[in-house]
Amino acid sequence: MDMGLEGRRVLVTGGSSGIGAAVARAYAAEGARVALTYREDRDAGERLARELGSGQGRAMAVRYSLGEPGTVESAVAEVGEAWGGVDVLVANAVRWAPRRAPGDHFEDVAPNEWTAFLGDNLAPTLRTVQLAVAGMRERSWGRVVLMSSHVALDGHRGQEFYGAAKSALHGFARNLAWDVGPHGVLVNVVCPGLTTTERVRHGLPPEIRERERANTPTSRLSSPQDIAAMALFLGSAANGNTTGQVVTVAGGR
Ligand SMILES: NC(=O)c1ccc[n+]([C@@H]2O[C@H](COP(=O)([O-])OP(=O)(O)OC[C@H]3O[C@@H](n4cnc5c(N)ncnc54)[C@H](OP(=O)(O)O)[C@@H]3O)[C@@H](O)[C@H]2O)c1
Repeated sequence: MDMGLEGRRVLVTGGSSGIGAAVARAYAAEGARVALTYREDRDAGERLARELGSGQGRAMAVRYSLGEPGTVESAVAEVGEAWGGVDVLVANAVRWAPRRAPGDHFEDVAPNEWTAFLGDNLAPTLRTVQLAVAGMRERSWGRVVLMSSHVALDGHRGQEFYGAAKSALHGFARNLAWDVGPHGVLVNVVCPGLTTTERVRHGLPPEIRERERANTPTSRLSSPQDIAAMALFLGSAANGNTTGQVVTVAGGR
């Protein structure tokens, strides 16, 4: 299938590791130019950009930090200066929630903590979409893919604020689809289940991974490449008329 991505300019936020890195590689393999963002680990971002062809002007690593004023604007501007705009945005970056102390309940989380968490995840993501969509609308073509989580659909103990931030993206996509749809811009959401990124493989106890695997119809957890395949399709020209949808990639969960 021709994905129609040759030469397209793709911005993948949080593209320096995990799912985002797999997404960046998937787009590059289809001939797209890929700008991937990092927050702290500049080396990781630049290493991946070199692998994807920064030397030939086919990739770049850009700093972008949710909740840090100005970096959303500067990241999109940097890509615009280099390549003239963004055709595909994969908004994948996340600010992870700090784990609740054992025995703490939902209502024990301090309001300043959770309002900052919601604000840092949601507002900069929506702002990134605003900035990217402006050019897409002008050129009458664009794709936006938002990275959510199965937690927004299934629920998970201790994840109320993360679930709220992610499920807000679902309502956002369904509504934005109306505004940009007539202009050739499609916007969709991918909901990964637990995915075997480095962070999950090294940070999540093996018994929890095994429990999740055993509870999955396909009897395996998703790989970052599984998620990237869906993000690639939804952000490609092969996706002709799917918009405002939330697609789960979680082995049948
Ligand atoms: N992994 C899973 O099981 C899973 C399941 C469901 C949904 N998801 C979703 O998939 C997306 C990617 O998750 P992942 O597991 O691949 O994450 P990850 O491996 O932790 O990678 C996170 C990426 O985002 C960047 N990042 C971290 N904090 C940031 C911040 N405050 N502002 C901007 N960028 C930031 C990181 O850059 P630095 O390394 O430089 O900080 C890195 O590029 C997220 O939206 C997540 O909610 C993941």
